[in-house]
Formats: sequence, structure tokens, C-alpha cells
Amino acid sequence: MANPLFSFSLLILSLATMQGTHAVYYAINDKTGNSGGGVRFRNQIGAANSLQTMSAATNFIWNIFKQNNPSDRKNVAKVTLFIENSNGVAFAVNNEIHVNANYLGNYTGDLRREFNGVLYHEMTHIWQWNGNGQTPGGLIEGIADFVRLKANYIPSHWVKPGQGNRWDQGYDVTARFLEYCDGLRNGFVAELNKKMRTGYNVGYFVDLLGKTVDQLWRDYKAKYGN
Ligand SMILES: *[C@@H]1O[C@H](CO)[C@@H](O)[C@H](O)[C@H]1NC(C)=O
Repeated sequence: MANPLFSFSLLILSLATMQGTHAVYYAINDKTGNSGGGVRFRNQIGAANSLQTMSAATNFIWNIFKQNNPSDRKNVAKVTLFIENSNGVAFAVNNEIHVNANYLGNYTGDLRREFNGVLYHEMTHIWQWNGNGQTPGGLIEGIADFVRLKANYIPSHWVKPGQGNRWDQGYDVTARFLEYCDGLRNGFVAELNKKMRTGYNVGYFVDLLGKTVDQLWRDYKAKYGN
């Protein structure tokens, strides 16, 4: 029989972050019922920690993107985290983050670290510009993992610096490459994101770093002897 405490499908807690007159509200909707992953989520992470991490991630991301003023940022009033029994790991859509409790339930290793890393990645999708839909998916995912890297939530399975086949392969490969680019020009990722507010052009790499992205990728590979 279902535990009556968790038999309702909706648990909402909210946390608001005041930023001047602008507030971002965070909510969590735990739809896991009595699944093993849901129980593990509530025992080892919990709603309050989740909301705090969402808020901390937001401030971290605004800082990485050098968005000091509300006018620099995407206009998002509320972000809702859904914990649900589904597939895959997590995704972000319509100011919602969806995390798969089955993934959490089966995770071996430091669950809090992994969960935080996933939230930093997904929260970046909430806040990053996407060039009005023109930015390649690999770059979008690479920036989300760049933020995760900068927050020091790097999973053990990630590629090492210099590894990978293409600059826009996405995720860890692109994140490592963006870290290299950021090393050439401090704040590069922030400036790239800013440019993507209105559109996307691969020439943004030339604008900011004076070289084509293909040349930068060759330089990057050469630096690590690949
Ligand atoms: C592990 O994953 C399987 C398949 O998604 C799922 O059925 C099972 O409930 C998960 N285990 C836990 C403890 O969440």
C-alpha cells in the first residue's frame, strides 16, 4: 500500500531569490510516489537542498555570464524542478527542469555531487541565450557543461582536456574546448553568450579571438599533443 505521506503526486515548496526588485521563484514538484529513486531522492537530497542548489546555480551562472544587471539576463520569473520516474538523466524545457528519479536511484557514487552537477547544467539551459534558436546544439550543451566544469562538478567519465573529435561535439568535449578559449581571453564564454542574445554566427569566434573556430580547434589539439 502506498505510504499516505507520499501518495499525493504534488509536493511544492518554493524559494525566492531577491535580486534588487527582481525575484526568481523556485518550486519543486516531486511526482515519484514510492519509487526507489524517489525515496533515495528524498533521503539523500530532498526538496530544500534542491531549491537551494537551484538558487546557488542561478547566481553562479549570472556571474559566469557576467550578467550584473537584470537587463542583461533572460527574463525568467519562476523555475520549477520536476522529479519524476522516467528515462534518461534530465532535460530543461519552458523554464522547467525534469530529473529522472530512476537515474538517481541507480546512481553509484556521490549522489549529491552528481545531482548538483546535473542541476548546474540544466539551470544553464534556463539562463543561456540560444541565438534565437540558431546556435548549434553542440555549443549549447558545451556551454552548459562549461558551467558545470567551472562549478567543479566534473564527473569521472568526462574526456580529459584535448580529447574529442570536433569542437561542436557537445557536452564535455566542447566544454573543455571552451575552457581553452576562455583561457585565451578571460570572459570569452560570457561574451559569446552575450552575442547569442539575438543570433548566432560561427564568426563570433573570429570576432572575439581573431581566429576561426577550426583554427582554434587545431591549436587546442596541438597544445595537448593530439
Ligand atoms: C533503476 O532503473 C530501473 C530502470 O529504469 C528502474 O526500473 C529502477 O526502479 C531503478 N532503481 C531505483 C532504485 O530507482
